[in-house]
Amino acid sequence: MKKQSLIIDCDPGVDDAVGLFLAFGSPELDLLAVTAVGGNVPVSRTGRNARILRQIAGREDVPVFLGADRPLVREPAGAGEFHGAEGLGDLPPFEPPFPATPGHAAEAIVDIVMGRPEGSVALAMMGPLTNLALALRREPRLAARLGPVSVMGGARSEGGNITASAEFNIWADPDAAAEVFASDLSLTVFGLDATHQVRATDARIARIEAIDTPQAQAAASMMRFSQRVEREIVGWDAPPVHDPVTVAWFLKPDLFEVRTCRIEVETASDLTRGHTAVEFRGVDPATARHHWAVTADADGLFDLLAERVA
Ligand code: BDR
Ligand code: CA
Repeated sequence: MKKQSLIIDCDPGVDDAVGLFLAFGSPELDLLAVTAVGGNVPVSRTGRNARILRQIAGREDVPVFLGADRPLVREPAGAGEFHGAEGLGDLPPFEPPFPATPGHAAEAIVDIVMGRPEGSVALAMMGPLTNLALALRREPRLAARLGPVSVMGGARSEGGNITASAEFNIWADPDAAAEVFASDLSLTVFGLDATHQVRATDARIARIEAIDTPQAQAAASMMRFSQRVEREIVGWDAPPVHDPVTVAWFLKPDLFEVRTCRIEVETASDLTRGHTAVEFRGVDPATARHHWAVTADADGLFDLLAERVA
């Protein structure tokens, strides 16, 4: 089997954690690095959490790099209420013996991608796009060199989850997102329109809970935490599990329906900061660089997750 080389950029984060477990358990992927960004909680915690998660999954072979601790321009703003102050819900944090690899995440992305054949390294983005924007600034040839990039971020039909019009990852660093969307990268973007279809129902969480591996137990604990928080804050029963879609798309693209489009990010207005303008009109499918996910097969995704954390 020819493996897909992949870097995951993330801010764990309870749903990032589930996405990481999906990747750690997938033999089709050659995981070259996990890069951490400040987002849900500061990067000192997202980086440590990535190290905790790789240890739980027995994947200390995957290097973890720490990246940006703040957005390009704006003040940092976390989402601790949805992830717990430490970022992993009820999972008690600890300091893992295996350290992070020295070097900035943006530099690691550049070095890894530029050192490998063109188009061979893919990227899954699960947090604010700061590290990728910094990498593009450092090495403008990166856009032509990178393979496919999946992004969890943005909202169109669903409206936002942090303001009326913006989703957290794009809202948190809209300036980075604007640079990434304006670059020559080929992006497949999973906004709330798709991820709100992927919900951790009681039955789905119970299925993962019944699997006796450390990573299944940890994933289930984080989804139970999300369920509780979602009931308290949003009043919904089954929380969306956003970030695993960015990995699942590389494993089973048929789980998603995507449409070619052109996406631009609002940075000028305070009111609609981080809004993703997803335009389907006037887009030539032959040359379009952006794809927007409109549907996600949640049952298929949870089947995949159950298989890979087992
Ligand atoms: C996104 O925001 C974060 O809180 C989640 O981890 C996910 O990446 C959903 O809007
Ligand atoms: Ca995230």
